[in-house]
Amino acid sequence: MKAKRIPQAVSEEFLAPYLSDRAVCSMEEYVQHGSTTTFQHCLSVMHTSCGLAQRLHLKINFENLALGALLHDFYLYDWHDDFYRHPKNGRPLHGFAHPSIACENAMVRFRISPEVQHIIRTHMWPLTWRNVPASREAVIVCLVDKLVSTAEAATGFFCGLRHLWGKNRRRMQPSFLERM
Ligand SMILES: [Fe+2]
Ligand SMILES: [Fe+2]
Repeated sequence: MKAKRIPQAVSEEFLAPYLSDRAVCSMEEYVQHGSTTTFQHCLSVMHTSCGLAQRLHLKINFENLALGALLHDFYLYDWHDDFYRHPKNGRPLHGFAHPSIACENAMVRFRISPEVQHIIRTHMWPLTWRNVPASREAVIVCLVDKLVSTAEAATGFFCGLRHLWGKNRRRMQPSFLERM
């Protein structure tokens, strides 16, 4: 296991079983934002959350914080799929539904504490307005998730523009040369 996957504030022994779990690693198969996979996104939220809490010298439970961040999007499907993007028969939209799905998956797969469940269930607040983050760990993950998601979406957008610009330039070249 790569050492960089483990935040400084958490022991490798604690996180290793989760990071080597087949279902957790399967998040690598799903795209979260732009070209970022759900696994990469969860790792980023975990590292940024732990780094921020350490830097601010916050008195928090780092194990709960790291685990809640790692599993906060443990919903295990491609949310870009039409089935999830256009819900029918009263099924809620992905944005509203996935915190509960992720939490249930995490509860089935691992024995997670009520504190970690709370972090996962409340990370989409204020969208899920009834599930308000009520612990420091939950507030951190809720905020950091939004920051990381925005950065990933912006990076994906600019990479897409660059790709498009490159394509258009390549398409323009022959006609430009023909005119010479
Ligand atoms: Fe999420
Ligand atoms: Fe997220």
